Amino acid sequence: MSKRRIEPELFKEQFGEDFLWGVATAAFQIEGAHDADGKGPSIWDVFTEKKGRIKGNHHARTACDFYNTYHVDVALMKQLNIPNFRFSISWSRILPNGVGEISQSGIDYYNKLIDHLLENGIEPWVTLYHWDMPHALDLNGGWTNRDSISWFTDYVTLCAKHFGNRVKNWMVMNEPSVFTGAGYFLGIHAPGRRGLANYLKAVHHVTLSTAAGAGILRATIPQANIGTTFSCTQIEPYTQREKDIAAANRVHTLLNRAFIEPILGMGYPDATDLPVIRKMEPYIQPGDIEKMGFDFDFIGIQCYTREVVKASVFTPYVGASLVKAEKRRVPTTDMGWEVHPPSIYHMINHFNSYPQIKKILVTENGAAFPDRVIDGKVYDLQRKHYLQSHLRQLLKAKQEGARVDGYFVWSLTDNFEWAEGYHTRFGLIYVDFETQQRIVKHSGEWFAEFLQDN
Ligand code: NOJ
Repeated sequence: MSKRRIEPELFKEQFGEDFLWGVATAAFQIEGAHDADGKGPSIWDVFTEKKGRIKGNHHARTACDFYNTYHVDVALMKQLNIPNFRFSISWSRILPNGVGEISQSGIDYYNKLIDHLLENGIEPWVTLYHWDMPHALDLNGGWTNRDSISWFTDYVTLCAKHFGNRVKNWMVMNEPSVFTGAGYFLGIHAPGRRGLANYLKAVHHVTLSTAAGAGILRATIPQANIGTTFSCTQIEPYTQREKDIAAANRVHTLLNRAFIEPILGMGYPDATDLPVIRKMEPYIQPGDIEKMGFDFDFIGIQCYTREVVKASVFTPYVGASLVKAEKRRVPTTDMGWEVHPPSIYHMINHFNSYPQIKKILVTENGAAFPDRVIDGKVYDLQRKHYLQSHLRQLLKAKQEGARVDGYFVWSLTDNFEWAEGYHTRFGLIYVDFETQQRIVKHSGEWFAEFLQDN
């Protein structure tokens, strides 16, 4: 029999008094009310309508019905002692066509939500773009069109004007590497575009929009705490052979450097680390490299797993393929992602290696496991252990001197997990999607106790 190591208990106090704790969500994944009160369709509304794109053909027309019942989830957050709530604004809820005509009911909804959070002592953290571009703009090319920069800055201006007097904490983009890669290169996420040209254009315009959007917040909201978030993953070579090491370096450059470095004013990584970056040149206009930099107050990192890669001649542009966790026979979550807590430690240190970054927050971390309701309870030990083991790695990095000042669990409730539909559950709170009933899981009870003031 294998011996189980008993880990020391974790205390909130070990992380320091100013450490920020919260939960994270996104509009499309929770709101539902897809066409309520004049909301325009987003690329995800259209994508989920197409057969075969989403597992089980699930859609998010109702999702968690957060639009109609947010007060229920806010009450649960209060009950769980959660002080910070990250959510995103649906662009097409306030600008149904992406530009032009404003929907007052959309603005009213976010005003009500923000006020309700503040009345309950919960600080709002707003993401401006969590993947749901208005469909009307996609008809004009979406992020592949350079005009997207001005569409986006007009939208940011509107958000700053209406919500900036109460919202202090802002995140401009969510995981640009993921939504450009999945949505514009592989076509497995909305809007389902494919190919290198679509991808590189989208990447460049999103990067320029990130800095431009942040600039608007800085100019219009004096007290704003401005950040943006990046997905990141520890990348390791499958063997110590030179070609696998080189493949791992290319994937690391693509996933962990190519999006953050331009924002820090460093431009795109050198083509010696990732040759395909040369193909970006036709889209870069004079002055762009300077325009991509912005002095963010914080950078959000979102780390869930590690990837192991090997050299592959069959994968164009990066010449590397992932060795799936399943094949490596390591523990995985329901997403098929390896459970590897040291990844977050390495990523905190990687982002610490950039002296330009002032503050680092973990703006997402969490896990999907197959939850079961038994006698009205969900005893999700695996999720609790996942969260605790990641927090231990975060603490280790912090105690060694790394900057890391916050941790947001993904997610408050089970919700619509993009191409996986409702098959994978990430919540601290279980949702019965038939009845919209909520059950606080064991992990949620643990988190509430952990956050409780002594
Ligand atoms: C990253 C994304 O920001 C979020 O939308 C997604 O649900 C989680 N990670 C889990 O995959």
